[in-house]
Amino acid sequence: MRVGILTGGGDCPGLNPAIRGATLRLIRDGHTPIGVLQGWKGLIEGLTVPLTEERVDEIIREGGTILGTSRTNPFKDPADVQRLLENIEDFNFGAIIAIGGEDTLGVARRLYTEHGVRVVGVPKTMDNDLGGTDFTFGFDSAVSVAVEAMDRLRDTAKSHARIIVLEVMGRHAGWVALYAGIGGGADWILIPEVPVDLNAMCHYLQQVYHGGKRYGLVVVSEGVELPFAGSDEPLQTDEFGHKVLKERAVGSRVARYIEEITGIETRDAVIGHIQRGGPPTVYDRVLATRLGLKAAELVSTGQFGMLAALHGVEIVAVPLEEALQAPKLVPYELYEEARQIFQRAVLQPQRSGAS
Ligand code: F6P
Repeated sequence: MRVGILTGGGDCPGLNPAIRGATLRLIRDGHTPIGVLQGWKGLIEGLTVPLTEERVDEIIREGGTILGTSRTNPFKDPADVQRLLENIEDFNFGAIIAIGGEDTLGVARRLYTEHGVRVVGVPKTMDNDLGGTDFTFGFDSAVSVAVEAMDRLRDTAKSHARIIVLEVMGRHAGWVALYAGIGGGADWILIPEVPVDLNAMCHYLQQVYHGGKRYGLVVVSEGVELPFAGSDEPLQTDEFGHKVLKERAVGSRVARYIEEITGIETRDAVIGHIQRGGPPTVYDRVLATRLGLKAAELVSTGQFGMLAALHGVEIVAVPLEEALQAPKLVPYELYEEARQIFQRAVLQPQRSGAS
């Protein structure tokens, strides 16, 4: 069978290992894997490349996606859906493996339920906000970059006796901020799932700072709602209707607020797309490979409309319908668990720092 493989939505480390895993298993099962370029756009426009063992052999360590990606939504125009369906026939694709987040997989689900296209999904996103799977690949790599940024910011914050606010991506889920905050030892973490209490944060930062630490680190997720006038100004949207959250500049706004309230010199840093580039971590390489293998297995065994997913340490199949029911957000209990570290009730005597 000829099987199309595509990657859609924002790229993230792990896409290449997933393409590799799926390709190698498809070949092993006697199928012909074909790469579809630029996500759903490539299926609308008929852009394909052969996927061979040789082509995918070394991509395990490469960030990005050798197939390219786009945020194209075919369902915005019925003519595009028509062209896409025709191309599936013209290319004689017996199945499509779609590697993506909620948008790409949402299209896959509709193609399956509304048009009978034989699809299998693979979950990816640095945001880790997809239901049906414990983790998505791309997340671990993004958090590792954010933690490295925290380590670097700590050095400079400490030298200048400043507070530094790090803004990370994550859309409306705070996974990246929470993990980066725990892993990087933040003094406060702001995530979209928990209403922000800026006064409590400023009070705590003042205590920490004047208690002897003489610097502070805050992590804020781009999707946080701030209680300032103007924080909900209209924003650009993509083809799936998502706002470009980067424009809200929550990091710099939180930094200005902290400086105003505490009187402590405060800076902000935004790592943006740096979180999405670079080689995947080992965790992401393994997870993506296993998910790719599973997707190919689902094709070989005729289990369509399913998502390869991580449950504990097992890779299982979950209906796309079920996985896409609701985004996976940070549970309040997990944030509270982290709060024991970043908001210590009784501050310990502080170590001395530069002033
Ligand atoms: O969904 C992944 C993500 O990186 C989000 O965290 C972020 O809000 C968005 O994509 C950025 O999208 P773009 O690459 O289109 O600017």
